[in-house]
Amino acid sequence: MKNEDFIMIREWYDSYTAAYLKMSPGIRESVEIKLDHTEQVVREMGMLTTELEMPEQDGVIGRTIALLHDIGRHEQVVRYGTMNDRKSTDHAELGLKEITRHMVLDHLEESVSDLIVTAIRNHNKLKIADDLDERTVLFCKLIRDADKLDIWRVILEMDQSGDECKIEKAFIGLGKKKSMAWEIVRAVKSGEMADMKFLESQNDFRLLSIGWVFDLNFEVSKREVLARKYVDTLAKYLPEDSNVEEAISVAKKYLAK
Ligand SMILES: [Fe+2]
Repeated sequence: MKNEDFIMIREWYDSYTAAYLKMSPGIRESVEIKLDHTEQVVREMGMLTTELEMPEQDGVIGRTIALLHDIGRHEQVVRYGTMNDRKSTDHAELGLKEITRHMVLDHLEESVSDLIVTAIRNHNKLKIADDLDERTVLFCKLIRDADKLDIWRVILEMDQSGDECKIEKAFIGLGKKKSMAWEIVRAVKSGEMADMKFLESQNDFRLLSIGWVFDLNFEVSKREVLARKYVDTLAKYLPEDSNVEEAISVAKKYLAK
């Protein structure tokens, strides 16, 4: 895959998303959050593939996956009015339908387009499918780390903004309930990534996202999370509770290892 292919796909991406930016203010706000997130995930991907000294062509494939990984979000918001997959549909699958409908990858070699499709499909699942070849798994791991690195930024920026409307959007429509879902506390305390299906509140999302550290695939990703103080900053927004504090300390110990 050549850089020119990426440029062509980006041109499609720009015109596809421009149509959503012309919709109502509510939709536009969600689209803008996702456009900004996507730009940053492309950058995170570039950082990862450079740090891992991957060949330039693989860097281009990685950036294409990053550019398209959340393309289904826009149609999801229009059709369902939410970014909560459990209340609507799997946004990765919806994105792949849009990619097929618009023939976005049709000019690429089949091995490359298959790789891109599979990485997008696996970017938001609890675990990567276990029947994939090594090269495909590598790209799945890359997009999962790049995506997480930026979702932490998004939710922290929203928290720091204090803008309740934006916070609700970034936290996929979850409410402000103080009590925490025990299954999420338990998972993080046990050093596991918690399942999104247990999410009931914004605090659940904060703690669940702290538990994403257990799913990071590359040392450089862990280094970045530490350097950017994501866990400590998120923890400030969580209620004082001994179980929650223990869960946070398990995540911090894991990162420091
Ligand atoms: Fe996503």
